[in-house]
Amino acid sequence: MNNTITVGLLGLGTVGSGVIEILRDHKERIEHKTGCHVTIKSVLVSDMKKPREVPAETQLTDQYQDITRDPEIDVIVEVMGGIDHTLTILLEAIEHGKHIVTANKDLVAQHGEQLFEACQKHQCDLYYEASVAGGIPIIRTIMDGLSSDRIHKMMGIVNGTTNYIMTKMAQDGVDFDSVLKEAQELGFAEADPTADVDGLDAARKMTILSILGFSMPYRLEDVDLKGIRGISSADIMYAEEMGYRIKLIGIAENDHNGVSVSVEPTMLPIQHPLSSVNDEYNAVYVYGDAVGETMFYGPGAGKLPTATAVVSDLIAILKNIRLGTTGTAYVQPQFPKQVKTKDEKISKKYIRLHVDDKAGMLSELTNIFAQYDISFDQFIQRSTDEEGERELMLVTHQVSESDFEKAAQDLDSLAAVRNIDSIYRVEGGN
Ligand SMILES: NC(=O)c1ccc[n+]([C@@H]2O[C@H](COP(=O)([O-])OP(=O)(O)OC[C@H]3O[C@@H](n4cnc5c(N)ncnc54)[C@H](OP(=O)(O)O)[C@@H]3O)[C@@H](O)[C@H]2O)c1
Repeated sequence: MNNTITVGLLGLGTVGSGVIEILRDHKERIEHKTGCHVTIKSVLVSDMKKPREVPAETQLTDQYQDITRDPEIDVIVEVMGGIDHTLTILLEAIEHGKHIVTANKDLVAQHGEQLFEACQKHQCDLYYEASVAGGIPIIRTIMDGLSSDRIHKMMGIVNGTTNYIMTKMAQDGVDFDSVLKEAQELGFAEADPTADVDGLDAARKMTILSILGFSMPYRLEDVDLKGIRGISSADIMYAEEMGYRIKLIGIAENDHNGVSVSVEPTMLPIQHPLSSVNDEYNAVYVYGDAVGETMFYGPGAGKLPTATAVVSDLIAILKNIRLGTTGTAYVQPQFPKQVKTKDEKISKKYIRLHVDDKAGMLSELTNIFAQYDISFDQFIQRSTDEEGERELMLVTHQVSESDFEKAAQDLDSLAAVRNIDSIYRVEGGN
């Protein structure tokens, strides 16, 4: 084959070794589709002494310049992770005319714009399908499959670790700490699970989807973020009783007021398709004006699913090189950033609180909600093991974030309210 494309691989861990495996096992198919033979010339690692399995023609290095400055290398596949150092490496690679594939959501969510600008300047491609929902081709779907439509809402379960934890809590009735420990033992959660359980990983992915889906330069700092540490078995049980399931959901909405993006534990109607996305699986639900509702489901991470996305990006670049159309994959956002205020963020809310069991208590409570024009969709109450105490669970109708916050503050200052245990967003219905 005359057309040989030479690749430099940055990182040879879980995803990097999957990339080598897929390029080896699907060699003929890739050559047939692209008309190109792919060779991995060099691989960057940090520990040169680790035993590795690489093709005979591949050399290892711990000096990134061996790859970024090598004139024979056409494409760089970045699967090493990290932010600042990795940005430096990729910017240098782009300056040397290399096309880039990356799986790095941390980097794309934070420095995507800078990378895109550098790529435009140097006529290089930048592809990053694996950065959101691993094995689900959601970026390509938004950029290509739905490019003729106007997307107004996206809802995603885009973090496998938290979905695994939430599934086990709901199915087995176990508490957060025990499930997290089990998830770590099984390899579904990192030793330091902060970025997953506190929602940052999902927020990075929702930022990437929002920029593409709404064609607006949205930022990670604009995402409303709340993780799953505070979720109790009691909330999961009451949610089920009211017809809901709690999931960590990223919700991105775009209407005439602007865009809002949140990642937070959310109560979804049990019959909603996202409610049955279980274990470590991911799914993204996209609402388009013309197409209506669509859902994309699959593995959100893992060696081969993620490497599949990476190699598919590489194939897109090979095709571009063959067609001579590099440097055209990215379209600048069409609209200026417009972030919704708390008055404009509207949703239903769930609140669980403990109160004194005394006459007039309920009317005090409803008076506060009435002041802010908040009405209820569902209400249940229970006695507790504490003397003279009731536990109340309410789901409101649609309310603004600002009104609900004020009502919750007023409730908290009532002498008869002993504790507000939890507040969640609720999706579905009016
Ligand atoms: N794992 C997944 O399922 C998944 C899914 C979607 C996206 N991603 C993204 O893919 C990327 C890679 O993830 P991974 O799970 O494959 O990571 P990993 O298993 O930890 O592998 C990282 C690799 O990069 C090398 N490396 C890291 N820092 C380096 C440095 N400063 N200089 C040279 N080499 C360095 C490591 O070298 P040594 O081998 O010498 O330690 C290792 O080979 C990350 O951005 C991640 O967010 C991963």
